[in-house]
Amino acid sequence: MPEDKAFYDNSELLSGYLAHRARPDNPNDTLERPLFLELAGDLTNLDILDLGCGNAAFGKEALLQGARSYTGIEVSQSMVDLARQMLADTSGQVRHESIETWRAQTEQVDLVSSRLALHYVENLESVFQEIYEVLCPGGRVIISVEHPVITSNFESLAEGRRTTWLVNNYFKPGARVHQWLGNQVTKYHHTLEEYFNLVADAGLELKHVRESRPKKSYFLSEEEYERRLRIPLFLLIAACKPR
Ligand SMILES: C[S@@+](CC[C@H](N)C(=O)[O-])C[C@H]1O[C@@H](n2cnc3c(N)ncnc32)[C@H](O)[C@@H]1O
Repeated sequence: MPEDKAFYDNSELLSGYLAHRARPDNPNDTLERPLFLELAGDLTNLDILDLGCGNAAFGKEALLQGARSYTGIEVSQSMVDLARQMLADTSGQVRHESIETWRAQTEQVDLVSSRLALHYVENLESVFQEIYEVLCPGGRVIISVEHPVITSNFESLAEGRRTTWLVNNYFKPGARVHQWLGNQVTKYHHTLEEYFNLVADAGLELKHVRESRPKKSYFLSEEEYERRLRIPLFLLIAACKPR
């Protein structure tokens, strides 16, 4: 497994990430999760494939809601271990492999999810082609990524809790190396039009776009809600394979 991809295997980064996810008003729970679940809708009887599944909390939730099957793809061994613990008393499966090497199998699925993982992948064309292949006709893909205005430039992250955000080098796609939770992490910037073209070029039909507009009811802190009104943190795209 390429080490630079499996950076969540760094125990310091992993514990920082888990602490970050447990924080009140963390952006995953206040912004990404409600919108993702709204786009996903009823999960009953769905076969689900989750690219970059992390600890597979979504898998457990989906199976409890009546999903027929759940398979997670995950590059970090530490995350795979957490995911297998999470899914221990369920039928859910996790495969230790990268999104880049994952290939569609003969079994097709109803839903491909990828939550906050594709901005770690440089070349997305083949990933979207594989997503098309693995979907049954009428099947859906829902992705969330860090918003392109965020991935364009991470300089303002150096100030800690950001109050200003610098958008820069927007039309220069590619690697963005930055310090996150005390470690060096590489993300890949893709522009908004690139994401839309990836969907269209793969033969998928665009259904919904969300820019993680905050909803007050999900926040404990008024100040944090106001801060999240300033810039879109995440981009969510839902598309489907034509019947
Ligand atoms: C921010 S976490 C999100 C985890 C989960 N999807 C969630 O929303 O809770 C990103 C996950 O993607 C995984 N990941 C990053 N790059 C990957 C790649 N190239 N292939 C497979 N997994 C990857 C990371 O190891 C990590 O578990």
